[in-house]
Amino acid sequence: MDNAVRSNYHHIKVYPIAGALGAQIQGVDLGQSMKTEVISEIRQALLDHLVIFFDRQELTPQQQLAFAQKFGQPMEYPLVKGLPECPQVTQVIKLEQERMNFGGVWHSDTAYLECPPMATMLYAVEIPPYGGDTLFANQYMAYETLSDGLQQTLNGLVAINTSTMAHAFKTQVDRLRDVDSQQKVMVAAHPVVRPHPETGRKALYVNTNHTKHFQGWTVEESRPLLDYLFKHQVRPEFTCRFRWQPGSVAFWDNRCTQHNPVNDYHGFKRIMHRVTLDGKKLG
Ligand code: SIN
Repeated sequence: MDNAVRSNYHHIKVYPIAGALGAQIQGVDLGQSMKTEVISEIRQALLDHLVIFFDRQELTPQQQLAFAQKFGQPMEYPLVKGLPECPQVTQVIKLEQERMNFGGVWHSDTAYLECPPMATMLYAVEIPPYGGDTLFANQYMAYETLSDGLQQTLNGLVAINTSTMAHAFKTQVDRLRDVDSQQKVMVAAHPVVRPHPETGRKALYVNTNHTKHFQGWTVEESRPLLDYLFKHQVRPEFTCRFRWQPGSVAFWDNRCTQHNPVNDYHGFKRIMHRVTLDGKKLG
C-alpha cells in the first residue's frame, strides 16, 4: 500500500518512518538539475518531517554541494579540514582501528558557533556491514511535552554552549583543521527555547555535547536542570533511527532536531560526506 501521507506533494513521494520525525523521500535524483517545484517540496518535507532521507544516490562532492546550495549557503566546518577539491564538504570517517566516532553523542551541530548551521546533509560513501545507524530526536516535541511551569522558566533562560565539551573528534587528530582551531575555544550564548524561523514552533535548544550552563547560573546550579533536559529531550518516543546504505543521504534541520550516530561497528570503516548550511543568529 502506498502510505505517502501528504497529498499536497505532487513531485515527490514522502514516507514517514516514525511517529515523531523522519521521512523517506522518493522520486528524486539529487545529482540532476531539479525543477523549482521539486526543490520547494523537498524544503517543505524538511519542515514537515525535520529530517528527510534519500536512497540510492550517486553524488560526487561537487554534486552534493550543488544540491545543498539549493537550500542555503554551505559553510566550512570549524574543526575538521574539508576535502581539498571541495573544502565545504567534510569527511566524517571512522577507520577500522578507531574506537571513537565523530559526533558520537546526542547533539545539534556546532551549537558553540554564534550562528550555528540551520541544516546538515550527510551522504553515505562507505558503511559498515552492520551498525553505524544515526538516531534523530524531535526538539519541538521535547519542548511541547514539558509542563507549563518549566516552559515558562526555560523561556527566560539563555544557555552557554562551548566547543571544549565536544570530545567526539579526539581520535581524528590527523583530520583536524589545524593546531590553532584545535586550541581555539568557541563559545556562544543561545536562548534555551528558540522559535523556528520558518515554522514559528518553539524548540528546545540545549544539548549534552555543547551546553555547559545557563547564563547567570553557575555550572553546579545548572547541572540538575540540564541533566533533566538532556534525558527528557531524547525520550524514545521523540526519536527515529536511520539505517544507512551506500548512497543514502540524510538532510536534517539543526534548529529543531538532535542526532546521535551509534558507535557499534568497531573493526569496520564508515565514510560519510557532510555539508552544513549557514544559519542565522536566532533570538
Ligand atoms: C554528525 O554528527 O554530523 C555525524 C552524524 C553521523 O555520522 O551519522
